[in-house]
Amino acid sequence: MSTVHVFDHPLIADKLTRMRRAETSSQDFRTLLREISLLMGYEVTRDFEMTTGTFETPICSGEFPVLKDNFVTIVPILRAGLGMVDGMLELMPFAHVGHIGMARDEETHEPVEYYYKMPKNVEKSTIVVVDPMLATGGSAIDAINSLKTRGCKNIRLMNLVAAPEGVKRVQESHPDVDIYVAAIDERLNDKAYIVPGLGDAGDRIFGTN
Ligand code: PRP
Ligand code: URA
Repeated sequence: MSTVHVFDHPLIADKLTRMRRAETSSQDFRTLLREISLLMGYEVTRDFEMTTGTFETPICSGEFPVLKDNFVTIVPILRAGLGMVDGMLELMPFAHVGHIGMARDEETHEPVEYYYKMPKNVEKSTIVVVDPMLATGGSAIDAINSLKTRGCKNIRLMNLVAAPEGVKRVQESHPDVDIYVAAIDERLNDKAYIVPGLGDAGDRIFGTN
């Protein structure tokens, strides 16, 4: 079974509270999401493998740590996942970005894939799927299915807010995918929105509500 990492960092918790507040503007919401993504990125990348290289400092030559493999692909689930890309790219400017478009049907709450574009040889990269909301889990499960169908193996999932139901479903469907989340909320409501949550993340990022 996968590991669920729930962040308890004070800065992440405080920023998330500001994002939850209904009066927070789209501009502030986007800024906070970028900042939290960068902070969460530290933990999401903590187990990246290291090796050493020999380099010259101005003083002498020495063996120093470097990332063993810097082929990392950040995969935002459109639209709302886009709000987490800039923070992750600040942390890993060398990363590639692949996109998966998923929209939930408003009646059935089932996700529909409408876009898929990955960097070449993505199956060889470490993949971080990003989406602020993990509600029923349907979008994340289908996005990860899409990647696995194309041969991807080393996948982790980073969300801002999750519902317990969504976490459970992703773990059942993808026991090899670790989940990183800033908060696990109480439940879903009858429209499959997270309670207390922060509303519709895509609408809040892009001002479409
Ligand atoms: C939201 C969110 C997730 C999904 C979560 O996207 O960004 O992708 O819902 O719900 P689930 O876990 O029940 O699948 P939405 O479909 O509203 O699209 P948007 O990002 O374009 O607003
Ligand atoms: N998608 C969102 O943006 N918010 C929710 O609470 C659930 C799904």
